[in-house]
Amino acid sequence: MPTPSSSPSALRTPICLRLGIEHPIFGFAHDIATVAAITNAGGIGIYGATRRFPHEIRAELAEIRRLVGDRPFGVDLVLPPNMPEHNSRSAIEAHIPDEHRSFIDDLVERYEIPPASGPGMRTRFIRSTEIEQEQLQAVMESDVNLFACGIGAPKASVDEAKELGKMTAALIGSPRHVRSALDAGVDLVVAQGTEAGAHTGAIGTFTLVPQIVDACGDIPVLAAGGVGTGRQLVAALAMGAQGVWTGTMWLTSTEHADHLHPSVVRQLLNASSADTIITRSESGKTMRQVRSGWSDEWERPEAPVPLKMPYQDVLVGDLLGAIEEHDIEGLIHSAAGQSVGFCNEVRPVATIIDELMLEASRAMGTLQPSSME
Ligand SMILES: Cc1cc2nc3c(=O)[nH]c(=O)nc-3n(C[C@H](O)[C@H](O)[C@H](O)COP(=O)(O)O)c2cc1C
Repeated sequence: MPTPSSSPSALRTPICLRLGIEHPIFGFAHDIATVAAITNAGGIGIYGATRRFPHEIRAELAEIRRLVGDRPFGVDLVLPPNMPEHNSRSAIEAHIPDEHRSFIDDLVERYEIPPASGPGMRTRFIRSTEIEQEQLQAVMESDVNLFACGIGAPKASVDEAKELGKMTAALIGSPRHVRSALDAGVDLVVAQGTEAGAHTGAIGTFTLVPQIVDACGDIPVLAAGGVGTGRQLVAALAMGAQGVWTGTMWLTSTEHADHLHPSVVRQLLNASSADTIITRSESGKTMRQVRSGWSDEWERPEAPVPLKMPYQDVLVGDLLGAIEEHDIEGLIHSAAGQSVGFCNEVRPVATIIDELMLEASRAMGTLQPSSME
């Protein structure tokens, strides 16, 4: 299949020119190789660093820089308001009800889950203002080009990043959140619809994006949630967005799949758009993931109501780690959005981007008046 050597000008939107990127494709991943590959293929990779220790963030951002050279890349932190002040697991554990502990013990017994060799991804540290400040410091000291806030955009951090010459972005899932994002002073708003993988809201992308575009005025908007094709990129531009922000579609890229559990990759390749579910059982906030025994167990009438973040993180963190480590059939799963229905084969990032841009160019062509006669 031929690949476009460069995007037609209509696809190279103002945000592309501002960032110096070829394609209006923002790609979020928790995997360094994938982030670098997205940037090197002409989009911009965004590294999801929220579960990384500050020293890891420093080293990983430096490694991405090494892989991409002068090309731009971003980093994303989730900085929810009202988290505990200190990184103290015991303080959180003291508030976990017995009913919830018994539910976890019962899962361990029924699925015969051996203990994990260490804390899980959600229990490596407790989400707290203490650790967030150190993570932010690592980001500010780095030469990363774009700083994105996953949940909540603290004005002081946005200001600091801007002073350091970084572009700033906030992900939002409702028109209600536009005001606080604009008040924080972000350069870019990501309108993320409910179809999206991981933490997500209730409004569909097609309904959300035009409302956010209208409310944002001159501040550029990206469309997120459910995007996996070039036709959707063109639709996003038609809705007034300047590009797309994507996550799920990279999970089955060659670069990312190499670093995921083979059972998870199989699950993603086999899942259709109908096979995802929103659950609070993972983090305490609404999260879209591939439906599995894990989400089914928490949907049972006798299951307890999940706790708030970060209590749910602490309740399930080690168990989720053990489920991954021991590949517990039925329970292993991944966060993913409805665009998982487009993830049908493992392909290199560059191929995914080339094909998406080729399809977008063709879709732009079908919109020309001559083709409608
Ligand atoms: C596995 C996975 C993990 C994610 N983790 C984060 C995160 O830590 N911070 C964040 O801001 N967004 C996170 N997201 C959401 C993405 O940034 C993006 O908004 C979303 O994936 C877009 O929708 P899509 O999944 O349909 O492409 C995650 C998405 C996925 C699929």
